[in-house]
Amino acid sequence: MHIDIISIVPSLLDSPLNHSILKRAQDKGILSVEIHDLRPYGKGKHKQVDDYQYGGGAGLVMMPEPLAELIEKLISIAPYDEIIFLTPDGVPYNQSKANYLSLKNRLLLICGHYKGIDERIREKYVTLEISIGDYVLSGGELAAAVLVDSIGRLIPGVLNDGTSALTDSHQDQLLAPPVYTRPSNFEGMEVPSILLSGNEAKINAWREEQAIQRTKTRRPDLFEEN
Ligand code: ADE
Repeated sequence: MHIDIISIVPSLLDSPLNHSILKRAQDKGILSVEIHDLRPYGKGKHKQVDDYQYGGGAGLVMMPEPLAELIEKLISIAPYDEIIFLTPDGVPYNQSKANYLSLKNRLLLICGHYKGIDERIREKYVTLEISIGDYVLSGGELAAAVLVDSIGRLIPGVLNDGTSALTDSHQDQLLAPPVYTRPSNFEGMEVPSILLSGNEAKINAWREEQAIQRTKTRRPDLFEEN
């Protein structure tokens, strides 16, 4: 999979994309991520990328021309499966969207700043508008990093144990059950004995039950979604 990201603060994305699982995915050649700085496409001597809002009001808006020029250049290299704008007024992001996007070959992510991007860019190019939660970030970069991380780890071959992602919270609309590692007694607190029993069927049944209980108490809304 190849992911291009358009940003006016590319350095914000350096660290999250270059460590741990995402780094391994890129080293293995399963995932490539390229960050494109919008600034050189800005207008005039100051490489301006934002301007005041028509109609008045606080906050600047990202201008259409620099974005259009860079998007056109990227599209001309190869078409995208989805062109995604990260925005708090987008559709809520969740695991099923991550699953859907992990099956794509080429994605373009656009990070907004200030009051957002000129609406005409959304109309002309954007195929999916995504919000990672009901709060406002100072830019789309951290949201883009969330997308790349959640999508990247689902691409076959990225996780060492490919079945691991299938047992994550949200993968089956349930929160994950509690997990334990050694020692079996930590400061007097014992690991549930069933997990030491070696009985796989009973362990699976216990985990399922724990997942259901945890979801019922913490996220009853997930049941209502079904
Ligand atoms: N940009 C600013 N806030 C955001 C959010 N909640 N989700 C996605 N992009 C954003």
